[in-house]
Amino acid sequence: MRKRTAILISGRGSNMSALIDAAKAPDYPAEIALVVSNNPDAPGLARAREAGITTAAIDHRPFGKDRAGFETALQSILDAHGIELVCLAGFMRLLTAEFVAKWQGRMINIHPALLPAFKGLDTHARAIAAGAKTHGATVHFVVPEMDSGPIIAQAAVPVLADDTPERLAARVIVVEHKIYAAALRAVAEGRNRVEEEPD
Ligand code: GRF
Repeated sequence: MRKRTAILISGRGSNMSALIDAAKAPDYPAEIALVVSNNPDAPGLARAREAGITTAAIDHRPFGKDRAGFETALQSILDAHGIELVCLAGFMRLLTAEFVAKWQGRMINIHPALLPAFKGLDTHARAIAAGAKTHGATVHFVVPEMDSGPIIAQAAVPVLADDTPERLAARVIVVEHKIYAAALRAVAEGRNRVEEEPD
């Protein structure tokens, strides 16, 4: 049985599209059953609908500081669609430790840097400013601490002498799409699992 997978987005959704395309392969072990955005205007929502995927928008703004309220709404839509795996793909909301715990080992994220370097935002500009010669992308299991958690896949790209953040981002996004599809495959097949540390 293919794992029913939801993708959470906030923006353009190019990683989302890469996962939707990868999941078209008959032997792909995950089915993209739902795309959810916290931003009702996310361009990725239209892209998902064009690809025939069910979408939902849960605007976080009416919830204000009530993160748990937003997450209750999110959880009920994931439950309603029988979701087994969650992929964060440019989802720009921090999730509470309680929500993350519910999805432990079943929620993955892509980050545009070679973690543990350059957690957080503006990774490409920061890599250039630091004089990094190599940069890249990481797919990891989500844990309560942001941009941390067991690494599933990484890919590196060179940082060139005349790089701008935009040029570097364009080089990184190509490998993001590849490693995210490969990582979701590995997780859906059970080849990458989070196990409790033995006592
Ligand atoms: C990607 O660079 C991803 O790594 C980061 O946010 C960006 C989202 O891009 N978390 P897209 O919406 O997938 O095109």
